[in-house]
This record gives sequence, C-alpha cells and structure tokens, in this order.
Amino acid sequence: MACNLNQTLPLPKSKKDFLSLLFIPPTPFCCWLVAASTSLAAEFFVFLCVDSNSKSGVKMTCFGLCLRGIASPTHNNLTEIDEEISTIENARVYHYKELQAATEDFCPVNKIGKGGFGSVYKGRLKDGRLAAIKVLSVESKQGVKEFLTEIKVISNIEHENLVKLYGCCAEGDHRILVYGYLENNSLAQTLLGGAHSSLQFSWKTRTKICIGVARGLAFLHEEVQPYIVHRDIKASNILLDRDLTPKISDFGLAKLIPADMTHVSTRVAGTLGYLAPEYAIRGQLTRKADVYSFGILLLEIVSGRCNTNKRLPIEQQYLLERAWKLYKKGELIELVDTSLGDDFNVDEACRFLKVSLLCTQVMPKSRPSMSTVVKLLIGEMEVDAEEISEPGMLSDLLSLRSNKNTSSDSLSAGSGKQVDSSSSMNTTMTHGTMTFTSINDRNS
Ligand SMILES: Nc1ncnc2c1ncn2[C@@H]1O[C@H](COP(=O)(O)OP(=O)(O)OP(=O)(O)O)[C@@H](O)[C@H]1O
Ligand SMILES: [Mg+2]
Repeated sequence: MACNLNQTLPLPKSKKDFLSLLFIPPTPFCCWLVAASTSLAAEFFVFLCVDSNSKSGVKMTCFGLCLRGIASPTHNNLTEIDEEISTIENARVYHYKELQAATEDFCPVNKIGKGGFGSVYKGRLKDGRLAAIKVLSVESKQGVKEFLTEIKVISNIEHENLVKLYGCCAEGDHRILVYGYLENNSLAQTLLGGAHSSLQFSWKTRTKICIGVARGLAFLHEEVQPYIVHRDIKASNILLDRDLTPKISDFGLAKLIPADMTHVSTRVAGTLGYLAPEYAIRGQLTRKADVYSFGILLLEIVSGRCNTNKRLPIEQQYLLERAWKLYKKGELIELVDTSLGDDFNVDEACRFLKVSLLCTQVMPKSRPSMSTVVKLLIGEMEVDAEEISEPGMLSDLLSLRSNKNTSSDSLSAGSGKQVDSSSSMNTTMTHGTMTFTSINDRNS
C-alpha cells in the first residue's frame, strides 16, 4: 500500500497485559484458577475498561460478560457466549462452521486484505449475501476489546455512510466480525493505491465521497446518543460500495463518550499521519480529534496522494505542511490532483481545501463540528467567513515537546489531568517524521 505510516497504533501495555491473563494456557491449576476467578475477573475487567464515569460503566457491562465466556471456552460457556452476544441488538452470532463454509475454509484466494487486527476474507453467507469476514488474529489478544466494542457500537447504528455489521463469531479462540461486503475496496487501495486500481475518481465522485464521509461522521458525533468518536478515520477505513458511496468502517477504536463529558483522557490509538496533536501528545480525545483526521483525509482525496510521501522532495513530503504553505501564497489550487486535468470546479476545490485547513487547526475549539463541515462543503455556509490560522502540524509536536521540557517517555496532560501510563509515549522526530517508540507493536 502506498501509505506506509498508516498503521493503527496499538493498545496500552497495561490493559493488554491484563487481557493476556485471560488466555493463560489451560494447565490443571490454571483451569481451576480461571474457573474460580472468572466471574471476579470479568467484573474487574469491566472496572478496568470503563472510564471513571458511572454512565459508561453501565454501558460496557456486557463486554465483561462476553469476556467471561471467551476466557473459559467450555461447551457450556460457548452457549453462554452465544446467549450473551445475541442480546446485542441487530447483530447475528454466526457459528464458526458457517463462516468456514462461506469462505471455503478461509481459503487464501478469498482473502481481500489484512490490517493490524488480522485478515479479511470475502465470503458468501448461507442466506446468499456477500460478506467481508474479518478474522482477528489469535495472537492479537488485545483485539478482544476492539472486537466486543465494535459489535456493541455498530450493531445499533445504521447510516448510509457507515459500514453495516451483520454479526460476529466468538467460538473458542475465534473472534470474527462479519460485515456487509463493499465491492470497491477502500480509498487507500483505490484512490491512493497508485496504479493498482482501475477506478476513476472524477471531481464529482470525490466531492460525493468527502461529503458522504463528513455526513457519516456528523451522524456519529451529533446524532448517535451517546455520541461516538471514531478515533481512526483514515483512507483504509473508508470503503466504497458499487456506486462509490463511501462507508466508514472499523469502529474497533470507537469509544462511547457520555454526553456530559467534554473529553476523556485516554490511551492514544489511531494512525500516524492522521493524529490530532492534542490527542497524540496528551491522549486528549474529543470529537475534534476525528475532525482533524477528517481534514487530513479531505486533503488526500482532493490531492489524490497520501498525507506523507517520503519519495517526494522534502518540501512536498507532508501534505498538510504543503497545503499551509500554498495557502499562505494564495496558491492552494496547486494541490488539486493533476490527474483531474481541468475536470474540477476551482471554487469548490478551493473551498474543500480551506475546510481541510479549518479541520486541522491546532486548537481543537477552532475546528468546526462535523455538521458545520458538511454545511461548509456543500456551500450552505461560507468558508471565507472563517478565520484560518496555521494548522497543527508535526513541527508543533516538536516545539510543544521542547517547550515543556518533558522527558521522552512521560509526556503529561496539559488538561490538568495526568495521562495514565498507557497513553504516555516516547515521541521522537526523525527528519520530520513522528514515530512512537515506547508502544509495542500491536502484534507483538
Ligand atoms: N466490508 C468490507 N468490504 C470489502 N472490503 C473490505 C471490507 N472491510 C475490509 N475490507 C478490505 O480489507 C482491508 C483490510 O481491512 P482492515 O480494516 O483489516 O485493515 P486496515 O483498515 O487496512 O488497517 P487497520 O487494521 O489499521 O484498520 C481493507 O483495506 C479493505 O481492502
Ligand atoms: Mg480498517
């Protein structure tokens, strides 16, 4: 894939370690221990994975119950898992055999992709529908939380611009998500994937994609109660259906945020290149972190290139930096994908690019809400009425770090709230590239 920085960052070590306790090899003593403490452990897990907020605690109780089944996969517990997961509205629980049959025993020819959590297979379900079957890799134990979160979150919401979850499978060690299959792959593999795709992205198609994604996000942010922050908006998580309608996928990193909280201090997940500075540095997660990622995605769609491309001359490597420089010179239009030739509306393109700069402003409160973004994109609101200052870029991370004179692995919150150890990170800059070195690789 053309974007090499676009891997989702891993989960915190502390919670990962805790989860790994649930997968102790079944020696007799361990079996006894697991059986005796399963109930306690499940409830303790619930305690660990909720924010220090009673509302979200209530909402996540069912995850603990599901884990209870998965931690000790006896026959009875398997039935228990089925029963428990089937209480999740609108999602079906599939038997492993059914998914095996759908994918011809997970045959490599049916494999359509691989992400940080495992492989995705195309399959035909018993009812005739095509599905994308995402098999979480067994070794990525921390995926359990993503898995269960994703089911809970997306089984209850439907929108034209969100991927449909058909159901899941949680038999034994298997943890599988079953989605509606989307014919035209992801934006990362098509629009940004170089010569590999035969799809043509006209200007009209691009505007439809940008507005569709913005609508999907506005729905998550402003219509779903409690609202949802996606946390991993990026080109590979935007899938395209037959008529190139965009669908936001991968709610694995989504987190329910109670309406009465302005933000939660949380571990940093997400993907380099799309991370809002305040989220990357302080783990401060609000809807505005998604708005930032959307701004980067918008730039990518209009320019037809990845946010970072190390093969380009140094001054062009970082898309946002380049956009800001061109904006200052009044030459923003230079950023539009040259493969479009003259097939684009100059005013509209400038508007979209300005919106992307607004979305990536360094101060979260200077970024518009997603419903405002929709209005700006469709021209219902005037973008020139908005003041645009320098966006939050990689260089800001550098100066923030040196200003605070923090040690390399203990950046703390400026929000007055200490970031827990799971969200502290070692941020180093090499040739303008941000790398996170203290977080383990997700699959390690
Ligand atoms: N519902 C779907 N329909 C069609 N293809 C899909 C679907 N879901 C995923 N894919 C394909 O599988 C690929 C891998 O998806 P996956 O979400 O596992 O990884 P990713 O998005 O590339 O990375 P990450 O793990 O960081 O999210 C996608 O890029 C896409 O090509
Ligand atoms: Mg994905």
